[in-house]
Amino acid sequence: MVSRVIPVDPFDLVIFGSTGDLAQRKILPALFRRFCAGQWPEDVQIIGAARAVYGRDAFRDMVAESLRTHAAKQCRDTDALNSFLQRVDYVPLDALSDEGWDHLAAKLTVDRVRAFYFSVGPRLFGPLAESIQSHKLATDQTRIVVEKPFGHDLESARTLNATLAKHFSEGQIYRIDHYLGKETVQNLMAVRFGNMLFEPLWNSQYVDHIQITVAESVGIDGREEYYDRAGAMRDMMQNHLMQLLCLIAMEPPAKFDPDAVRDEKLKVIRALDSVEPHHIVRGQFEGDGPSYREVVGNPRSTTESYVALKAHVSNWRWAGTPFYLRTGKRLVARSSVINVMFKDAPHSIFGEDAGRHANVLSIRLQPNEGITLKVTIKEPGPGGMRLVDVPLDMSFAEALGPENQDPPDAYERLVMDVIRGNQTLFMRGDEVEAAWAWTDPIIAGWQARGDVPKPYESGSTGPGDAELLMKRDGRRWQGINP
Ligand code: BG6
Repeated sequence: MVSRVIPVDPFDLVIFGSTGDLAQRKILPALFRRFCAGQWPEDVQIIGAARAVYGRDAFRDMVAESLRTHAAKQCRDTDALNSFLQRVDYVPLDALSDEGWDHLAAKLTVDRVRAFYFSVGPRLFGPLAESIQSHKLATDQTRIVVEKPFGHDLESARTLNATLAKHFSEGQIYRIDHYLGKETVQNLMAVRFGNMLFEPLWNSQYVDHIQITVAESVGIDGREEYYDRAGAMRDMMQNHLMQLLCLIAMEPPAKFDPDAVRDEKLKVIRALDSVEPHHIVRGQFEGDGPSYREVVGNPRSTTESYVALKAHVSNWRWAGTPFYLRTGKRLVARSSVINVMFKDAPHSIFGEDAGRHANVLSIRLQPNEGITLKVTIKEPGPGGMRLVDVPLDMSFAEALGPENQDPPDAYERLVMDVIRGNQTLFMRGDEVEAAWAWTDPIIAGWQARGDVPKPYESGSTGPGDAELLMKRDGRRWQGINP
């Protein structure tokens, strides 16, 4: 099955922080891949902007180098690479002064979509937003794109929202959570709302509990300073896992449009109970290679590289069905999975010997994207009516054909949505604030109690206490499988 490419209108995209890691590793390769897929018209401009004084050709060389690493497959087509680079320009510019802005203004095209990507730290969001306005670069077709971390807590997120709101309307602000751009994360909505099969069972009457695991085998190398201030709670739980929880728990929106979807997600976040201290486990990796504290160069760091917790969504659909969420660095494998654990059948007609069996719907977000439904069947052979659980397994790549082996990177979808003007997969300001309002008391509690994360072995499944969190409830985590 070949995916359809719907071309977008001509646009100008300015990337602030264009010499930085995110721009070079993610944004520019995503743009190049979309270019190779034929999604752009001829007439597009990508303007890198940053403080470094580069000439246009030197910047193009830098971009070419990054593309060779991060879009190697597409780079084999040198005509495509050269043609892409022809559309790339560069302006040295200082976010905190007037330097370079007139030069940028002179390059922009009149009367077309104009997107400004803030691939910079949040302290520059305000000055950039202000300069875009004061240099009269904003038109009614202007959008700005901002990356996480969107604030450090509720107060800072509110301040950021207020600063941006001084210069742009909510409809012009695209807050990225790149998890929402992942194919399989969007598939969560397709599976839930495109099928009749699951929806009648999608509630506390039939679902015992839900597990959301985002395990990473990588550590935090190269981002030590940021990470040691953030920790897993701010870096992953407040945003990516929260978004997954919302998509799993939300009510069906009336349509797939930005506010309908975001209203429903917001209701979920607002329905979350505060988390009891004994329902959270924090961990920090050690052993097998440098420990977390060695990596960050802070022998007393109490920042968590792992967090697991039990959350409750207090509404009619979910009352009584806990959501167990966990995420961590340096774990046994890279694996993001949502497991919907259904209840046992109310009565077994096969008697005690048949054992207990429950259906599990596993949605694998990465890698090996797909869905598995564990169903119960009769064990083969003449030995009586014994039951066994087997997987109904579907990998999206197999089901959709070899051309879909490599799902598009999240940024490909998200950057094109910015150009199309579709905010469905971006976070609204109130959503971000609600997520911080839930997160803040958890972190404040740790600080007040002087909580120290539990050590766990690098390459393991996390601290033993996370197993206990489940065990106390008579449950256990599904395995973390690559
Ligand atoms: C980022 C976090 O938002 O997401 C990183 O800051 C994390 O710490 C990354 O590694 C995970 O993204 P992905 O797409 O690799 O699952």
